[in-house]
Amino acid sequence: MSKGLLISFEGIDGAGKTTQIKTLACALEDQGYKVSTLREPGGTDISESIRDLLLDARNQINPMAEAMLYAAARAQLVQDVVRPLLAQGTIVLADRFIDSTIAYQGYGRGLSIEGLHQLNHLATGGLQPDLTILLDILPESGSRRRQGSLFDRIEQEGLAFQERVRQGYLEMARVMPRIRVIDGSLPVEKISDIIIDVVTRFLKGDLRVES
Ligand SMILES: Nc1ncnc2c1ncn2[C@@H]1O[C@H](COP(=O)(O)OP(=O)(O)O)[C@@H](O)[C@H]1O
Ligand SMILES: [Mg+2]
Repeated sequence: MSKGLLISFEGIDGAGKTTQIKTLACALEDQGYKVSTLREPGGTDISESIRDLLLDARNQINPMAEAMLYAAARAQLVQDVVRPLLAQGTIVLADRFIDSTIAYQGYGRGLSIEGLHQLNHLATGGLQPDLTILLDILPESGSRRRQGSLFDRIEQEGLAFQERVRQGYLEMARVMPRIRVIDGSLPVEKISDIIIDVVTRFLKGDLRVES
């Protein structure tokens, strides 16, 4: 493989993104692929500093400033990390990417969806995931799974906010063929099997995505 592949994982908090990325990374490494995983916001020194600002529950950040901070963290990550990895032929697994901006700041906070697409485009230089795994669960389930952990600034927004984000994701999946929706309420192993099947077939070129 001369050029890598960017696979993003999306879904509300507790959907199972981090869990599934770990399993997929191991499965792909076993198949002989070079794999890197990274999380958003984060992945560079600057981006991790921005992450601290964004997730600190004491900070009051207005929605546009929030969107731009995510975009700034992403710009740094794409430039310094993602593009070089892709150029080396690595499969990059991203725990959140551009769709989170549309879902959270657009559908969740109510900023202009069109404006956010432009912001994403500026931040990434037009880089889009080749494939996106959307893990879909009810906000109640997500929040139940995360009971006992400290909630960050975004997680504290409540169930109505999470439901707007969830519906936003589903709407995007209806119009963007690269986004594959998987029922996140299934058992962990079942979801892993589905994801490995989807990604393996994508890598073989069996699944064509036109976006
Ligand atoms: N399919 C599943 N069924 C039940 N619990 C799950 C499932 N997937 C993940 N979990 C659990 O739910 C919690 C949140 O999962 P995580 O992968 O961290 O979600 P996310 O990264 O999307 O926020 C973890 O405690 C994890 O073990
Ligand atoms: Mg996670």
